Amino acid sequence: MPFPIKEVRATYPALSDGYAYLDGAAGTQTPRPVIDAIATAYRTGIGNVGGAFPASHRSDAIVAACRAAVADLVGGDPGGVILGPNMTTLTYRLARAIAGPGDEVVLSRLDHDANVRPWTQVGATVRWAEVDPVTGELPVEQYAELINERTRVVAVTAASNILGTRPDVPAIAELAHRAGALMYVDGVHATPHGPVDMRALGADFYATSAYKWSGPHIGAVVADPALLETIRPDKLASSADTVPERFETGTAAFADLDGVTAAVDHLAAMVPGTGNRRERLLASMSAAEEHETALFSVLTGELETMPHVTLYGKPARRTATVYFNVAGHTPRQVAEHLAKRGVNVWNGHNYAWELTGVLGIRDTGGAVRAGLVHYNDRSDVDRLLEGVARLA
Ligand SMILES: Cc1ncc(COP(=O)(O)O)c(C=O)c1O
Repeated sequence: MPFPIKEVRATYPALSDGYAYLDGAAGTQTPRPVIDAIATAYRTGIGNVGGAFPASHRSDAIVAACRAAVADLVGGDPGGVILGPNMTTLTYRLARAIAGPGDEVVLSRLDHDANVRPWTQVGATVRWAEVDPVTGELPVEQYAELINERTRVVAVTAASNILGTRPDVPAIAELAHRAGALMYVDGVHATPHGPVDMRALGADFYATSAYKWSGPHIGAVVADPALLETIRPDKLASSADTVPERFETGTAAFADLDGVTAAVDHLAAMVPGTGNRRERLLASMSAAEEHETALFSVLTGELETMPHVTLYGKPARRTATVYFNVAGHTPRQVAEHLAKRGVNVWNGHNYAWELTGVLGIRDTGGAVRAGLVHYNDRSDVDRLLEGVARLA
């Protein structure tokens, strides 16, 4: 069955402004059920959690439902879903709690800086996995040399936010686990682009951000609750010591958490399906991935024929994300030209700090990133291609 792109697009009010939203890798637009869930939570009345009155009970229920929804999305345990403002903040908190002086951490130059800097700043010895600058691949073989009995954490992305590269995370996890190390997988860019099974990836921790998959600005890190029981993060003396609550500081954005649940329900319902929510998510996200992949081959196929365009990386397994420069124009100029033609793209290093350094373009403005998500259609791709063609 073809992906019902018209119906899917119709659920996103913002898409009616006429722009081609190819900036999804920096944050997606929000469908009506998510907007309604957040508004309804505020309208109905919410209290802080753990109180004796109904508005507080509603917040208790919102938090529990949100943990269950995120667990369904990534194939995790609701009891191990840590919620917070964004992935960066949660990763800083967890890194400090997990690793420190005397440990080794293995990081990759493919990663967004949010899965790099929090680990370089805990006082551990850092070992680097290198990227092939031509293909954009992260070769697995190097991990056998990098990991040893002192390795506490291997932090790696499930997909690059600029090149789209999907490294062989299960193979890296096998090496990490054999040495007794923990796998911290950044799923922020990968999650919106297809079905996720954190156990199959071998992730001890799987980080994701709801605003990349049609939800509000909320981050989550998912782990086995039994593992979380062994970790003691910094926390207030007065706050809950239970798992996962002890990893969550301060008061949560309860209405937004209701929006996260609505976003997961929305993703599960993009194509008609049966079974429980997890099963419907797997089917729906597979259909979305097929839709994105078909459009992406048109996009890259055409860009490759343009002599004035330089494309970075050509990884074998990737998300529908392309990073390119246009001869004679800065990335910012390209983005401004496209914006005038109603096309939203990002320019810059996009926080892929190490990777843009490897590519030799970090100090020259990086490049232009265009990314597809499930709500993009052929007209979005055609408008980008026409706009880039005009810069020849
Ligand atoms: C791959 C990747 N990791 C981490 C992050 C940081 O996520 P957050 O904005 O939730 O801190 C981003 C954000 O763009 C990202 O693309």
